[in-house]
Amino acid sequence: MTAPGPQKMWGGRFERGPDALFYEFERSWSFDRRLLPQELALDRAWARAITTAEILTTKECAAIIEALDQIEKRAQTDLAWLDSSPAEDVHHFAETALIEKLGPLGAKLHTGRSRNEMVATEFRMYVKQAAGEIISTVGLLEAAFAEQAEKNLGVPMPGTTHMQHAQPLLLSHWLLAHGEAFDRDAERFLAAAKSADACPLGSGALAGCAFPLDRNALAQDLGFPRITANSLDAVSDRDFALEYLFALSALAMHLSRLAEDFVLFATPEFAFIELPDEFSTGSSLMPQKKNPDAWELIRGKTGRIYGALITVLTTCKGLPSSYQRDLQEDKEALFTAHDQALAMTRIAAATLGATRFREDKLRESASDPALVATEIADYLVNHGVPFREAHEIVGKVLRAAEQEEKTVRDMPLARLKTFSPAFGDDLGTMLTLDSALARRNIPGGTAPTAVRAALDEFKARLSSRAKIS
Ligand code: ARG
Repeated sequence: MTAPGPQKMWGGRFERGPDALFYEFERSWSFDRRLLPQELALDRAWARAITTAEILTTKECAAIIEALDQIEKRAQTDLAWLDSSPAEDVHHFAETALIEKLGPLGAKLHTGRSRNEMVATEFRMYVKQAAGEIISTVGLLEAAFAEQAEKNLGVPMPGTTHMQHAQPLLLSHWLLAHGEAFDRDAERFLAAAKSADACPLGSGALAGCAFPLDRNALAQDLGFPRITANSLDAVSDRDFALEYLFALSALAMHLSRLAEDFVLFATPEFAFIELPDEFSTGSSLMPQKKNPDAWELIRGKTGRIYGALITVLTTCKGLPSSYQRDLQEDKEALFTAHDQALAMTRIAAATLGATRFREDKLRESASDPALVATEIADYLVNHGVPFREAHEIVGKVLRAAEQEEKTVRDMPLARLKTFSPAFGDDLGTMLTLDSALARRNIPGGTAPTAVRAALDEFKARLSSRAKIS
């Protein structure tokens, strides 16, 4: 069975139309219709460019632009029109609609251009826009971190390495640690958008355009600050998409780490947070349950984003020079990765914003005397004991305390002096939680003054990025 289709676009040298099953297999309209706004913008710019090159008259150009505007309007409201179109791809859809409206004049627009350069250009336009959208959503997440850090300033928590109690932290320091990771993500999205910001139009199918086109003017018309340098490279380069997919993958990885912390903090063993009802679910069997599904789904969806990166990397691997149809596989992967990452980031921002941190539990856990072991070693160092020796002494003190079932704070000075004569009665002031925090007053450290400064600097960075993007 022969399919309805794009034969008009390229059927001249064919005796028979495409097989219906094959046609369904090769079509990309179902997903590249997302590029229709970019396609129509490109078509308008192309009409202007080939008018300057004296291929169209000014009148013809105006008629084409008017028709493209009408197509855009109808596409915005008449979804059935889009759904029922037998178009092969978004370029075929626009061309068919234009010819339906204008007849032979519509058929003039494709002069000097190829779908190979068009799809590369439209995909770049899409990635630029998508990056802008994700940067502002990551900005919402960063703002939620800043807000929680501000609200909880002064609340301590136990800091861990290897999941073992290590040294106390300020909760706001922990919040800003995650915030920094997302800030780097935002920078990576800016960089990916910059990579995408070069216009391939004028590259033709692979060898460049034979009509006297002003490529720079055309690029500018479409909002690109520069043109691509080599036509053959331009029709096959998908590095910008890969960079965007890597940035999405890093974002998803950071979200999944944040999710893991929250899942853990919501357990009764930790109980550092209260899960917000609006972003949690219950169990159909166990009435007591409140589950952190928002975070679990965020963690769970990360794999799909990595999958999209690997899909496109694999698509590009080993391709010969120039455009190959394999490249059509780039779009679906990127579109769904973008959609998922955007949804994950939105939900993370909202869930974080609605989460209540339990100061009582955090403070109780941060009061574990083991967390000040480093302070005791530092105390001895301040009193002339070499650090390695101090480390050994404190280890022995802690072991003795454990055996005697007390904490170091409860050990009398006389007992401590049996471990080292350097212990004195000023030790106590150093063993408090506040002192352990305040001593780390160095840029990037967890002391309240350092965290206050870091939070202000974080907010300033965030608002300066909001201004450029
Ligand atoms: N749908 C195609 C894609 O996404 C557009 C370019 C088609 N070019 C071609 N020569 N068949 O890559």
